[in-house]
Amino acid sequence: MTNQPSTAKQASRPIGIFDSGIGGLTVAHALINTLPKENIIYFGDTAHMPYGDKSSAAIQAYSVKIAHMLLQQECKLILIACNSASAAAYELVKEYIASQAIVMNVIDPVITFLKQHYAHKRIGLIGTRQTINSHIYKKKIDELNLGIELSSYATNLLASAIEEFGNHHVIDALLKVYLAYPDLETADALVLACTHYPIIKERILTHYHTLNRPPIDIIDSAEIVAAAVKKQLENNQLINMNGKQSKHFYVSDYTETFAANAALFFGQDITLEHYPLWD
Ligand code: DGL
Repeated sequence: MTNQPSTAKQASRPIGIFDSGIGGLTVAHALINTLPKENIIYFGDTAHMPYGDKSSAAIQAYSVKIAHMLLQQECKLILIACNSASAAAYELVKEYIASQAIVMNVIDPVITFLKQHYAHKRIGLIGTRQTINSHIYKKKIDELNLGIELSSYATNLLASAIEEFGNHHVIDALLKVYLAYPDLETADALVLACTHYPIIKERILTHYHTLNRPPIDIIDSAEIVAAAVKKQLENNQLINMNGKQSKHFYVSDYTETFAANAALFFGQDITLEHYPLWD
């Protein structure tokens, strides 16, 4: 795609975004704010969430099938808005999609951001078991050779607790346990390596506030990723200039809880539609 001449028709093709559930709506929201004229197709694989505890093979199989569906919808760019799927399946999805669309993940833009702003700093990182056990952030940060010291920890229950309770004070008890590692308590910045976590950002800041330490930088990937997508589209002359736009938010399993929580992740009311990908 990169070398093909761009046309308005190509640019008006949608951006496909997928996540294990509705956490990726935090990224979708940032993307829509950054690129308000783009057509968006969001797919949350609520039938299989959480991905964080699934095997890499299972996440790869789900991701390829979702990417195939997004390609059938003629997406020009597919964004894996889930750290667990970015860690386990990005390379495979990229290979599968080949030149039919641009494929992006939520990890590489954060690595670039760390490279630009955090040389020789101590960085904490929290995410799902799948993301942490993949060591993908560590590998990519070590490759930068910039003296960034990374301490990462799996915070397994957080994503499910957020899906279940939303931004509820019950989360504070989990944060107290999960963030008690000395290297997380003293880090210069904390990367939220799960697209569910931005909605509890204030709680995390409040937690650090109680520790009697200098303020910590919380690195929330949503806006960093949205800016990276914009840049990628610009580089490929694929920004949609056409005024017409549509947004669809699909989930593989529709429940009232997901429908009610969607607004919390997206920051405003949206309608979830059931897409029976696995039926
Ligand atoms: N939102 C997913 C991520 O960024 C995690 C949720 C899950 O485990 O499904 O990794």
